Amino acid sequence: MAYTTLLVEKRQDGIAVVTINRPDKLNALNATVIAELQSAIAELDADAAVRGLILTGAGEKAFVAGADISELAKATPIEARAVALRGQRVLDSIERFRGPVIAAVNGFALGGGCELALACHIRIASDNARLGTPEVKLGLMCGYAGTQRLPRLVGRGRALEILLSGEMVNAEEAFRIGLVNRVVAKDALMNESLALMGKMIANAPLSLQYTIDAVNGGLDMSFEDAQDHEGTLFGVLCSTADKTEGTSAFLEKRPAKFQGR
Ligand code: COA
Repeated sequence: MAYTTLLVEKRQDGIAVVTINRPDKLNALNATVIAELQSAIAELDADAAVRGLILTGAGEKAFVAGADISELAKATPIEARAVALRGQRVLDSIERFRGPVIAAVNGFALGGGCELALACHIRIASDNARLGTPEVKLGLMCGYAGTQRLPRLVGRGRALEILLSGEMVNAEEAFRIGLVNRVVAKDALMNESLALMGKMIANAPLSLQYTIDAVNGGLDMSFEDAQDHEGTLFGVLCSTADKTEGTSAFLEKRPAKFQGR
């Protein structure tokens, strides 16, 4: 499918790179970007050749500098609620992607951009990245689940400091508080993201899918229910050809060849 605000590259190695491409507006998430992200994520999730996803922003300055303020300025309460709910569903689809999703945070990740990065499984930041939720400076607040994912990632106190101050956190501080997994030089960001993704997708596809499912689902269950869910998924994996292959390969001292079934 052709997109006007996204660049979608499906690489031979099974990694798809989705670049939000409005650099003149610091890749702000307008209605078109959200609609195209929804389509692109669904398309990539349905394509078995795609094993993992890297999300990034075009240009030198920004990952995504937020929801598009010019659209929000005109939105009625009914429209704004619909915008929030729609964006939430799109970010949910990223969080539930069946393979790993890395946010390669190459600059500003603010507001909806920070929330987008939070929905990804892993965040790698360039050393010039700055993250934050400045919506409170606009008389707004997070609408793409930032009030929920941020405290789950960095803890309630640190999340509230970021959410209520609206101040940006630099890459080093973001790493210190666990908001990003690692910080790398700007020029190394895509290669580092590709290298980590390569290591992850070398593993059994269904193992990755069920691990994501166990983590996502389990965090919203009681510990007991989450353990039960994990056990069920563990059991299901024992019905797969890849489990037979993975355990046989280990015992035969050879590399495993996984097929995703
Ligand atoms: N929505 C719409 N347009 C945005 C935007 C957003 N969230 N963020 C940046 N832009 C636009 C600017 O309006 C500007 O457009 P113009 O050239 O047509 O005037 C362009 O992107 C470049 O941004 P600019 O502000 O000139 O860059 P800067 O380097 O001086 O500042 C930021 C960078 C990120 C500090 C600043 O753009 C900013 O504060 N953006 C808004 C962040 C925000 O509040 N996000 C939450 C939204 S709910």
